[in-house]
Amino acid sequence: MYNAASDRYEKMRYNRCGRSGLKLSALSLGLWHNFGSCDNYDNMVSMVTTAFDLGITHFDIANNYGPYPGSAEENFGKIMKAVMTPYRDELIISSKAGYGMWDGPYGDHGSRKYLIASCDQSLKRTGLEYFDIFYHHRPDPETPMEETAAALDHIVRSGRALYVGVSNYSPEQTLKMSQILKSMGTPLVIHQPRYNMLERNIENGLQTVLEHEGIGSISFCPLAQGLLTNKYLHGIPKDSRATKSVFLTEDKVNNTDLSKIAALDEVAERRGQTLAQMALRWNLRGGKLTSVLIGASRPAQIVENVKALDAPDLTAEELTEIDDILGR
Ligand SMILES: NC(=O)c1ccc[n+]([C@@H]2O[C@H](COP(=O)([O-])OP(=O)(O)OC[C@H]3O[C@@H](n4cnc5c(N)ncnc54)[C@H](OP(=O)(O)O)[C@@H]3O)[C@@H](O)[C@H]2O)c1
Repeated sequence: MYNAASDRYEKMRYNRCGRSGLKLSALSLGLWHNFGSCDNYDNMVSMVTTAFDLGITHFDIANNYGPYPGSAEENFGKIMKAVMTPYRDELIISSKAGYGMWDGPYGDHGSRKYLIASCDQSLKRTGLEYFDIFYHHRPDPETPMEETAAALDHIVRSGRALYVGVSNYSPEQTLKMSQILKSMGTPLVIHQPRYNMLERNIENGLQTVLEHEGIGSISFCPLAQGLLTNKYLHGIPKDSRATKSVFLTEDKVNNTDLSKIAALDEVAERRGQTLAQMALRWNLRGGKLTSVLIGASRPAQIVENVKALDAPDLTAEELTEIDDILGR
């Protein structure tokens, strides 16, 4: 029997998501890796409860997370049923559709047919009555944006989700989607872009659109999948993501200038933090993001990462030093 920590709301920060009524924990937990059919179920339960005990209220999934695709939703559903159901109203659970999920012309991209069918499948796999946020996972250049927007609007009006978001949309696509959704009375509440010290595309116009439109943001891969931690500084550990994922390969690690990562590690050490903690702190600097979406392979990483919030904000000198190290 799981009883959530009674002090879980004392340390975490909760930020308003754009100009909506929704608040998100400053750190959220994503289930892209380590929640699939080949992963250890007890470890998954422990990661979810550890996160919740530390004040993380937002858990992010997608239809295709696994492997096999759909298994992360199934496992999250199992965890909900086993331990988290009493806390359903304290949780913000998101899912997404936009990448290839099933065979044939209706299992991918951004049509009304795909999005609504996929949302129904995701609800079934998780056993949830509704998602708090439902995302279009990536832009679809072929489906009229009006159709994708109408599908998202329908998903909200039919009670399948409370809020809608987009992910991986450019500034122009985000502005257009925001305007269409606004005209339908279902605001675009959140954008989920990739953002970390090494990958800063959102600074080229997206943040301006989000601020103007009052859309919140949650960054994914804030640790560049583990590259922005000290774990690869002395070789590739046997159980690390680089040994088992197609998204972060050993080649990618070997082609990274690790002397820069080591220099960043020294800045973090001077601040009394680990590099992972400094990288998360960097994402949260200036309060522009609503939340930072971390991944983890074990509960101890979540404990370490939440402590990022304890340290003071990065100073102007530290930010310049980081940019100098990275040649920016
Ligand atoms: N919308 C999209 O298109 C999209 C795309 C990608 C991700 N996402 C979302 O973003 C979430 C996070 O992505 P991500 O998992 O790539 O995030 P990340 O935070 O950049 O990387 C997480 C990985 O870094 C390692 N790590 C975490 N904390 C550590 C620590 N303190 N010390 C050492 N290593 C640490 C772990 O890998 P090891 O296994 O090596 O321990 C962990 O699995 C996903 O779960 C998903 O919800 C969305």
